[in-house]
Amino acid sequence: MATDLLKGKKGIIFGALNEQSIAWKVAEKAHEQGAEFVLTNAPIALRMGEINKLADATNSEVIPADATNMEDLENLFTKAQEILGGKVDFILHSIGMSPNVRKKKHYTENNYDFYHKTMDISAMSLHRTLSTAMKMDALNEWGSVVGLTYIAAQRVFPDYNDMADAKSLLESIARSFGYHYGEKKKVRINTISQSPTPTTAGTGVKGFDEFISFADSMSPLGNASADECADYTITLFSDFTRKVTMQNLYHDGGFSNTGVSNKVMEKFTK
Ligand SMILES: NC(=O)c1ccc[n+]([C@@H]2O[C@H](COP(=O)([O-])OP(=O)(O)OC[C@H]3O[C@@H](n4cnc5c(N)ncnc54)[C@H](O)[C@@H]3O)[C@@H](O)[C@H]2O)c1
Repeated sequence: MATDLLKGKKGIIFGALNEQSIAWKVAEKAHEQGAEFVLTNAPIALRMGEINKLADATNSEVIPADATNMEDLENLFTKAQEILGGKVDFILHSIGMSPNVRKKKHYTENNYDFYHKTMDISAMSLHRTLSTAMKMDALNEWGSVVGLTYIAAQRVFPDYNDMADAKSLLESIARSFGYHYGEKKKVRINTISQSPTPTTAGTGVKGFDEFISFADSMSPLGNASADECADYTITLFSDFTRKVTMQNLYHDGGFSNTGVSNKVMEKFTK
């Protein structure tokens, strides 16, 4: 494995809740590759204190921020730049939550206050983060921003509920802001469309256990793990991908281009 891919780079990592979190794995790998960063999560998610273990292991500080709150985001960028001693080079947006999923509201009967919250937390928070960074000029030229998404933005997965709509919006924001930030500061913005992964957010979706097995059987390389997602994310933060921007990048073992697999067909063969 290459080392020091992120040497000298500074970043902000949103969304490490516990050891299963994709953001947790990204933080561990970014540290291994020589990056310095701050960790952030919603104040309520920090209460369990899990994140302090990660902060100790990666020699990083934790700054609370609700990603739907502009004051919190301004404070985050101010403190991050103080702690890191300058502008940042990478941001991981690894945030998702739907009150409709949590409260088991069927998609056709969604509660609209909840729906607003899903959009704000899971998608508009990326816009808010980028807009704050741009206003404060907090990102270095050739900086890289990665958001995490799911293929329910393109195809119907019935139990993914309003998160499918949030992911469509998230991917669109990455494209649109990617244009503007690219033109202004050469900052690149991409989303990674990840396989189903056993995390707190993932397992909250109805039927997750069956679904993860189905996806695995449909993917020639099998499902991509959180660790593998972190490896891919590191390449996008590195200087080896400087002209990749405004893309939705599938990291799913081939699931997205498979119509049907032999493994799945076997289940229907009499
Ligand atoms: N797990 C999967 O199957 C899967 C698949 C594809 C994409 N993703 C995406 O990956 C990302 C990370 O999720 P994960 O699977 O690691 O689960 P996770 O539950 O570990 O992470 C979700 C994070 O969002 C944070 N969050 C929620 N509300 C917030 C707010 N208002 N402000 C700031 N942070 C907030 C949570 O505290 C948590 O840390 C999400 O965008 C998720 O949709 C997950």
